[in-house]
Amino acid sequence: MDLADIGVTGLATMGRNLARNLARHGYAVAVHNRTYGRTQQLVKEFGGEGTFVPSEDLAAFVASLKRPRRAIIMVKAGAGTDAVIDQLADLMEPGDMIVDGGNAHFDDTRRREAALRERGLHFVGTGISGGEEGALNGPSIMPGGSKESWEALGPILQDISAKVDGVPCCVHVGPDGAGHFVKMVHNGIEYSDMQLIAESYDLLRQALGATPAELASVFREWNRGELDSYLIEITAEVLDQVDAETGKPFVDVVVDQAEQKGTGRWTVQSALDLGVPVTGIAEATFARALSGHPEQRAAAASLQGPGLSGVGGRELVEDVRQALYASKIVAYAQGFDQMAAASREYGWDLDLGAMATIWRGGCIIRAKFLDRIRAAYDANPALPTLLADPTFAAALDAGQEAWRRVVTTAVQIGVPTPGFSSALAYYDGLRRDRLPAALIQGLRDYFGAHTYRRVDKEGSFHTDWSGDRTEHPA
Ligand code: 6PG
Repeated sequence: MDLADIGVTGLATMGRNLARNLARHGYAVAVHNRTYGRTQQLVKEFGGEGTFVPSEDLAAFVASLKRPRRAIIMVKAGAGTDAVIDQLADLMEPGDMIVDGGNAHFDDTRRREAALRERGLHFVGTGISGGEEGALNGPSIMPGGSKESWEALGPILQDISAKVDGVPCCVHVGPDGAGHFVKMVHNGIEYSDMQLIAESYDLLRQALGATPAELASVFREWNRGELDSYLIEITAEVLDQVDAETGKPFVDVVVDQAEQKGTGRWTVQSALDLGVPVTGIAEATFARALSGHPEQRAAAASLQGPGLSGVGGRELVEDVRQALYASKIVAYAQGFDQMAAASREYGWDLDLGAMATIWRGGCIIRAKFLDRIRAAYDANPALPTLLADPTFAAALDAGQEAWRRVVTTAVQIGVPTPGFSSALAYYDGLRRDRLPAALIQGLRDYFGAHTYRRVDKEGSFHTDWSGDRTEHPA
């Protein structure tokens, strides 16, 4: 029997589709699943698409791989992943590679990579984005791990990834947990993108009394311009959907409590540790949390709002489009800041322009917009914030009046727009010459002698607040 080029263990939808994608590209793919029935099913249904080498147990799976072995794990992130890694590692030899294609936490990936490196094995935490369809037809792939593992895996992963203008949506992101970190931030940005879209829909529906179907046309129209993206495209599809059972808009029969598997939460947790204000992702995560408290919502339902509706005319549609674009720039700027901060903290040497490049296709946040981000980093790889890129600065300037009108309208009619509002506050905060942080420093020094620095000389100082209020070098 010929040995397989690469293997996939874990054949739920993502794993199965990834295995099929590999087979369709001419690789002989070893396939394994905890229950053998699923493996047999894959070979029975899709065996004609390429060469699959099925195995009933992990030992046979590992034995069916060419050396150095390349095995991709596609199991639900968590404790189960450790168990599979341990079993695989025991069966492998130095130089072999274990790829974790699930949404693992980057800290787990760092820990696993270090442990396997000790044993001479390569552990490659790899972000894979694009859902079921992407896994099959070309996802965006974000591998971490060693340079040696990239040499052995890179050509295959690039081959099966999405391509934009002929460029693969896959690069070696960086060592150890870098791939999973970048995927995590991708997901955080995905949360933020969706929150901004949801706010746009909600505000227009409440303010204008527009129907979901009418708003589907608005999003379709927006998708022809600078907002052109997968998420805007599918928003139109979801808003257009009519529930077969009731004849109502689909969006009106879905329970309005947004769930999450946790990558958005992780992004915010990591941002807090790194000291990076990812307010867009945080507001998106908290908005999901707010929606998920029906008992509090029921208790608060009788609280009074402003009692206004029907404010704003058709011009609000264009204002919201501009607010959405401006807020999106802020959300991405924050996410890219977080990647830059993590790169410094963990010594990853991330190429931010390359991250924008591999998100242009295949993944959930794919958008025209990412070309502009790539161009911004091409023009200045050391850009301190995307907001300072001349193209984005001009776009923010052009959109800011509409953005302010949108936030004002939302506040007036009592529609919550935490994404729009916090993005605007971030923009206004970052551009300020002087921030009230000076007063906060004064207060900290008053109650806790925490000291402060002065604008006109070096060093730290303390004022004797409880005594004669003279200042002393700290
Ligand atoms: C992707 C997605 C995917 C993620 C879902 C669900 O890039 O293909 O990000 O990895 O699992 O979007 O995320 P939540 O359940 O947390 O919303």
